[in-house]
Amino acid sequence: PKKITTHVLSEMKMRGEKISMLTSYDYSLARIVDKAGIDVILVGDSAANVMAGWETTLPITLDQMIYHGASVVRAVNQAMVVVDLPFGTYQGNSREANISAIRIMKESAADAVKLEGGSEVIESIQRILSAGIPVMGHLGLTPQSIHKFGTYTVRAKQEEEAKKLIEDAHLLQEAGVFAIVLEKIPAKLAKQVASELHIPVIGIGAGNGVDGQVLVLHDMLGINQEFSPRFLRRYHNLYAEITGAVGNYIDDVKSGDFPNEREQY
Ligand code: KIV
Ligand code: NA
Repeated sequence: PKKITTHVLSEMKMRGEKISMLTSYDYSLARIVDKAGIDVILVGDSAANVMAGWETTLPITLDQMIYHGASVVRAVNQAMVVVDLPFGTYQGNSREANISAIRIMKESAADAVKLEGGSEVIESIQRILSAGIPVMGHLGLTPQSIHKFGTYTVRAKQEEEAKKLIEDAHLLQEAGVFAIVLEKIPAKLAKQVASELHIPVIGIGAGNGVDGQVLVLHDMLGINQEFSPRFLRRYHNLYAEITGAVGNYIDDVKSGDFPNEREQY
């Protein structure tokens, strides 16, 4: 199996082959996800929620994203690895954005970076691209701006916001981003954007008319019980599996059944 590059993703869009993408934050799970044949692994700043238990994605630092990114890169042979630029490392200062992106590429050896926003961050995107670093865009629900919006509800339902999203998508494409994530927007709008753009559009809660899908690994594996948005399809109930396994271990320790004779020296 060959390594997935921006070029491969572009060919997939032209062929109409859907792109599969999942998050990973650590070596052990990234190894499994890569071996299973995923196209793209996102080292998302959702690590702030999933790995660290923060309420929002804002607290995670660049050093912490680099740690997660490097852990994933060491595990992966085939998938493209994209690392999120965390909050506060690229907004409003294109020079700082470039330094942040270069640190991710050097210190985690990722294949690309992702950042949130359209026209507000276009100078940062241009500067990072001019350093030869592939950039993935992210529009619609942008969790790093949660304090501006106040809720995690569906975005771009109103015409004005939808118009801005379409303009931003074109702006990002013209700047040279290799793909765009659209999060939690009406399926019809996402489909329109995917059909207007020649770069791949990856959806999460954006319907089936886009070029690929992304989910948070821990959500789709059912490790996380509390988070249940409509767009989330659970492929397993790892919460129950792990609870059962841990419970069996506790019982065996308490009863003296573990370790048995074959499990000792
Ligand atoms: O951080 C993340 O997991 C993401 C995806 C939900 C797209 O940005
Ligand atoms: Na993210």
